[in-house]
Amino acid sequence: PSTVTAAVWLFGYGSLIYKVDFEFLERRPAQLHGWARRFWQGSHDHRGTPDAPGRVATLVREPGAVCRGVAYRITPSVFTHLDHREKNGYVRMADTVEFDDGSRASCVVYVADPGNEAWLGPASDRSIAEHIAASRGPSGSNREYLLRLAQALRELDAHDPHVFDLERALLDRSRR
Ligand code: BEZ
Repeated sequence: PSTVTAAVWLFGYGSLIYKVDFEFLERRPAQLHGWARRFWQGSHDHRGTPDAPGRVATLVREPGAVCRGVAYRITPSVFTHLDHREKNGYVRMADTVEFDDGSRASCVVYVADPGNEAWLGPASDRSIAEHIAASRGPSGSNREYLLRLAQALRELDAHDPHVFDLERALLDRSRR
């Protein structure tokens, strides 16, 4: 007998928005309620190294916040690839995604909690921008990660002062 495996929605809010190296059935702009995107997670394996981790996005719970991103409908087999790609402190969580037409669906989202070993936590925009400017890892520069994410969020009409303030701090730094 053939096995039919149900597709699931995956919500992406970081590199999954612009780096799509997996197969998907559908891609839709979407949002997650009650979560804020923050550059508070260390990256040992993509945008930094174990000795000099970069800073990448995770989600933190914040009542009233809305995180704009992209939902992909994928088959569960894609998680094998993504679990490897997104190791380094992220775990899969279940939540509800909202599409632009107001409809909702169950989704999976990767979140790195404050308790994980790569957690860096909050810092000033200027210090995060300095950190990002100085970091690089196997996936490329940390600067490129921030700039590509900010550009992708503009294309999604996202309201995200945290990311856009960091982008400005990074670009101002290059001009100083
Ligand atoms: C994301 O884009 O949703 C994502 C990317 C890397 C790690 C965790 C989440």
